[in-house]
Amino acid sequence: MHIAMIGAGYVGLTTSTCLAKLGHVVWCHDIDLERIERIEAGDIPIFEPGLAEAIMDVRESGNLHFSASAASTVADATAIMLAVGTPSRPDGDIDITQVESAARLIAPHLASGAVVIIKSTVSVGTSRRIREAIAETRGSLDFSVASNPEFLREGSAMADFLYPDRIVIGADDRHSAQVLQAIYAPLVKQNDVPILLTGTANAELIKHAANAFLALKIGFINDVANLCEEAGADILEVAQGIGLDHRIGSNFLMPGPGYGGSCFPKDTRAFAATARRHNAPQPLIEALIARNDERKAQLARRVINVAGKRSARVCILGAAFKKNTDDVRESPAITIIAELLNAGLKVAAHDPQARRNAERLLPAACWADCPYEAARESELVVIATEWDDYRELDLPRLASLMSGRRVFDFRNVLDPAAAQAAGLDYWGIGRAKAPARRLRASAGTGSPAFDRSVAAPGLL
Ligand code: UGA
Repeated sequence: MHIAMIGAGYVGLTTSTCLAKLGHVVWCHDIDLERIERIEAGDIPIFEPGLAEAIMDVRESGNLHFSASAASTVADATAIMLAVGTPSRPDGDIDITQVESAARLIAPHLASGAVVIIKSTVSVGTSRRIREAIAETRGSLDFSVASNPEFLREGSAMADFLYPDRIVIGADDRHSAQVLQAIYAPLVKQNDVPILLTGTANAELIKHAANAFLALKIGFINDVANLCEEAGADILEVAQGIGLDHRIGSNFLMPGPGYGGSCFPKDTRAFAATARRHNAPQPLIEALIARNDERKAQLARRVINVAGKRSARVCILGAAFKKNTDDVRESPAITIIAELLNAGLKVAAHDPQARRNAERLLPAACWADCPYEAARESELVVIATEWDDYRELDLPRLASLMSGRRVFDFRNVLDPAAAQAAGLDYWGIGRAKAPARRLRASAGTGSPAFDRSVAAPGLL
């Protein structure tokens, strides 16, 4: 099928590439012509594992093209996907200005029977509004507007597209449902993926409610982690025990410095704002949003209190909102670094991929090329992003370079026993207060809440 993609950002680029891999002929356009030129020259503007190579392959196969002209991109397309930005409005709801202008841009070029598919994450009711916007100029045209939300995680977007848990098709008429089913038919055949066929309003709500629910799981486990610290329990074992219940599941139960990125913070705010507008408030989500903001501030305070004197040097490892991405949008690491700098501390920071983006936001931090350089002469080290590089740190080397001993592991990537063996004063999230002292008192039993001389923890 000939598919047009409007928007060559994260979702547009990944989706275009994967659709081309499925055998469709995809034409991709972006109003940022410089971006199109960069991509055409092989300079991919985002870091996503496997994406650059896949773009090269599908361009060579003739299935993926980029165009500076919206008219030629859309002209012969059966399906036109809109994957443009949907920033937050001051009231928290989604600003759909870009979706509306993309719709107006393509409207004059739509052929009869065209299906406009909204990929951008939008609030419930947007498909209907876009249908009205296009009808203003093409009232007599036979066209449809459908919703087909994406469930791609940054860092594993290609795999998420090709092996999804489900595909949600929001269509209010038979023709658009058939076109979307045809688009995904190769995927369904290859990987036996379930398709949920529903209306546009349901599809729009599914996306927001799914992200809100996942964010709730994270907020919940973070609060349980706080309790574990106070009660002398270990969150990793508690989370494992909870997650083994199939009704709960083990995913999204990793405690950390709060959720970040371009989706969860924005989508939870939008979900809550839409619900208020529809007079069906979501108090759980409202509380979650406040708790997540508090969490970042609370962890920053913890570091500031321990660092003690103003102008102490603190090392922050990680700036991206999670591993395998260079995205620092609403990253807890960025908030924490900013708070430390405000408190007058010196911050030396490192991130294997996000340095360029982070440095632009926080030029006052000293950005190092490797974690050891960042740790040199630091009073304490904070692990803020769960990069594999940090899991594999040479801990004795790290300890020998630091001026202090304290390590705050906000992602629980290090083995507490190995950190302590290297002479570090280790503190992980949800793993009991002052573990070094307690561990000595419990004579090497590992977890303070578990007597390892009786049995090893975990499933037997
Ligand atoms: C999220 C969803 O997972 C995707 O399904 C969705 O398509 C996407 O948003 C979107 O709306 O476009 P993403 O933002 O890339 O994807 O990242 P996640 O892997 O979901 O992580 C979000 C945040 O939650 C990160 O800050 C991460 O560190 C945090 N997190 C995640 C935890 O703190 N604990 C966990 O157990 C999992």
